[in-house]
Amino acid sequence: MPRSIIIDCDPGVDDAIALLLAIAQPSALNILGITTVAGNVPLNYTSQNALKICALTKVDIPIYAGCPRPILRPLSTAAHVHGATGLQGTKLPEPKATLMVQHAVAFLIDTLQQATEPITLATLGPLTNIAVALIQAPQITQKIDHIIAMGGAITHGNVTPAAEFNIYVDPHAAQIVFGAGIPIKLITLDTTHQVLTTSKHLDAFRQLNTPVGIAAADLLSHYGTSDIERYGMPGAPLHDPCVIAHLLQPELFTFRPTYTTVDTISPENLGRTVIDWWGQTDKTPNVEVAASVNTPGIYELLIESLGTL
Ligand code: RIB
Ligand code: CA
Repeated sequence: MPRSIIIDCDPGVDDAIALLLAIAQPSALNILGITTVAGNVPLNYTSQNALKICALTKVDIPIYAGCPRPILRPLSTAAHVHGATGLQGTKLPEPKATLMVQHAVAFLIDTLQQATEPITLATLGPLTNIAVALIQAPQITQKIDHIIAMGGAITHGNVTPAAEFNIYVDPHAAQIVFGAGIPIKLITLDTTHQVLTTSKHLDAFRQLNTPVGIAAADLLSHYGTSDIERYGMPGAPLHDPCVIAHLLQPELFTFRPTYTTVDTISPENLGRTVIDWWGQTDKTPNVEVAASVNTPGIYELLIESLGTL
C-alpha cells in the first residue's frame, strides 16, 4: 500500500531531483499534491518549476502555490545560488498543466481534515506553508503521520555561520512546526553534506540517455558551485532527495531523538537550529535528527528510480 504524502517544496535544483525521485516510485508513494513556497527563488518561479518538472515526467500531479513570503521576515531567496529562475542548465518542457486555483495552505488543511488515513508531509523548503496551516487549523496535527524535513544544522549553517537556508528564510515557521507536537524527522546539513554529487554520478545520470536522466545531469552540473568552492567539496550536496530517499528506503539513514528549537531572536544566530545532540538539557525530545546516511545507497536508488521515468 503506497504511503500518502504531500511534498512542500521550493524548486530549486535539489527539490527538482527529489520530485523526480518521488514521482518515479508510485508503488511506494501516493503523491496527493505538491505545494510550493517561496525560498530558493520567488513563488512564481518555484511554482512554474514544479509544473515543468511534472511536465518532464508526463505525470499529472496537482500543484498548489502557497505563501509568497515568510511569516514575519522579508523573503531572502537563494537565487544567487540557483540562478534567476531556480533551474539552470537545461531546457525543460513548458508546463501543460496549470496551477490549481486553491491556495496551498487551504489544500493542506482540507486534505488533512478529510483524510481517512494519516498523511506524511515531506518538506524541502522553508516551512511557511506548514506553519500557516497549523495556525489556521491546529487540529490537522491529528492527521499528520509525520513530517520529514530537510533543514537545519547541528553545527555550521550554509547561509550564515549559524543557519541553514530553509530555516533561515522562515525561522518563525520552523519554530511553530517544531513545537506543534508532530512527529518530525529532520535531515540537516551535517547529513546532506555527506551526499555529494560527483562527476561519476553525473555520468551515470547522463548515461540513462533519457530526457529525465539528461535533464538531471544538466541541472546538477550547474548546481551547488558555491558550496563546492566554499567547502572544497568533490561535488555539490544533494539535500532534498535525502527526504524522499528516506521515505523509500528508511534503512539508508539512522536518526537520534533530540530537543530542537530555533533561534528567532539573535541577529547573528537568526534561524539557527539549536539541537541538543548530547542530551544536555532536561527537555523532552521533539525532533529526530539524522545521524548517519548510506551515500552510495542514495545514488543507487536515485539512478535506478530516474531510469524508470
Ligand atoms: O540548505 C539547503 C536547502 O535550501 C535545500 O532545500 C535547498 O533546495 C534550499 O531550499
Ligand atoms: Ca529546497
